[in-house]
Amino acid sequence: MWGGRFAEGPSAIMQEINASIPFDKALWQQDITGSLAHAAMLARCGIISKADAEQIKIGLHQVAEEFAANGVDEDWSLEDIHMHVEAQLRATIGEAAGRLHTARSRNDQVATDLKLWVRDAIDQTDAALAAFQTVLVDRAEEHAETIMPGFTHLQSAQPVTLGHHLMAYYEMIERDRSRFADARGRLNQSPLGAAALAGTGFPIDREQTAKALGFDAPTRNSLDSVSDRDFAIDYLMAASQCALHLSRLAEEIIIWASQPYGFVALPDSFSTGSSIMPQKRNPDAAELVRAHSARITGCLHAVMMTMKGLPLAYSKDMQNDKPPVFEAEGLLALSLAAMTGMMREMTFRPDAMRAAAERGYATATDLADWLVREADIPFREAHHITGEAVKLAEQQGVALEALSLDALKAIDDRIDDRVFSVLSLDASVASRNCYGATAPDRVREQINSARQRLAAS
Ligand code: ARG
Repeated sequence: MWGGRFAEGPSAIMQEINASIPFDKALWQQDITGSLAHAAMLARCGIISKADAEQIKIGLHQVAEEFAANGVDEDWSLEDIHMHVEAQLRATIGEAAGRLHTARSRNDQVATDLKLWVRDAIDQTDAALAAFQTVLVDRAEEHAETIMPGFTHLQSAQPVTLGHHLMAYYEMIERDRSRFADARGRLNQSPLGAAALAGTGFPIDREQTAKALGFDAPTRNSLDSVSDRDFAIDYLMAASQCALHLSRLAEEIIIWASQPYGFVALPDSFSTGSSIMPQKRNPDAAELVRAHSARITGCLHAVMMTMKGLPLAYSKDMQNDKPPVFEAEGLLALSLAAMTGMMREMTFRPDAMRAAAERGYATATDLADWLVREADIPFREAHHITGEAVKLAEQQGVALEALSLDALKAIDDRIDDRVFSVLSLDASVASRNCYGATAPDRVREQINSARQRLAAS
């Protein structure tokens, strides 16, 4: 394709290091779509004949059929998917194929192809995230009143509802979706027509190809167009942040499914056994979601580090942007599918959650708050008195609300029997009823508003 000025062909090693076809063949559909738009524009602008454009169009559709049926061969001497499509077109329609690459370079072509690919990936990810949100909100509604210990430092802190806890993840996922949407908005300008770097002297119409490919407009600067990989990095940043959220939930599922917790039972469909320990039911899917987030973030860093030292405009380094983008997309899609399935099918154990909240003296803050409110004791002192009560309950091996009034009065005689109304887990949860808080009514409010936003998204 470019051999005119060379006396000898490349060495086998040169061909191997240069070939991107093993991975960029994933772009064959985008490449053909871009070429169809380009050829139609060339004909409309009078740069190639209508007859040639028609042949190219028919030929490209045949190439698409061929690739869909038999896959793309990997011929290293043809380097990349762009050359493979063109070679296949030549084999199909002959000479006219040679006119397709007029007023175009592989540099604007590859940027266009990858943008189209990433745009599709974003749309698919968004749909998968919406499906995950639907499951989260369903499970949250089911457990709007289920009490569990809320943790700080993974120490029992204050009782919360499981519905509240799950809705926290709903919010994270909503922000993830908005990050992907932002990335999509910035990405959606067409590089096609920037040619190698400087634009072209042919009277092309970049608006036309931009529109045909669903872009909002052509990119404004041809040098930037062929050098820009921020769109891939934006996508990988959004993917990394999203994977990180999934990883935190995965970590919680792993902890919750462990025997000392027993907050959830994983479904058979998302557990594995041990080859030696018959009692085992391992949370491998959650562990792999946690691990995949590391790889996805690694993909982000691979592209960032590739780009950081590159002078304008195109350098072959940029060919390496594709494997990390493809890898991250595959890992994220799988992680999301696994998380959605686990969340839909796992069994929550409200009794174990409630028992853990009682063991952890999760209503200690409620006792301190009561002393402040009802006995006008400064919070610092109330904190100290409550600490004594917790110590006593711990010695007796009982919940706070199981301490006798006499025992509490011995610690501070300003305590009276009204205190028992705040010591229960249910009272504690019901009392936290400010906007966004854990009281079941407030959680239902969050759920209703989430369902409305989800339906509108
Ligand atoms: N396979 C190349 C890539 O993915 C296509 C662009 C080649 N451009 C060039 N000037 N060699 O980046």
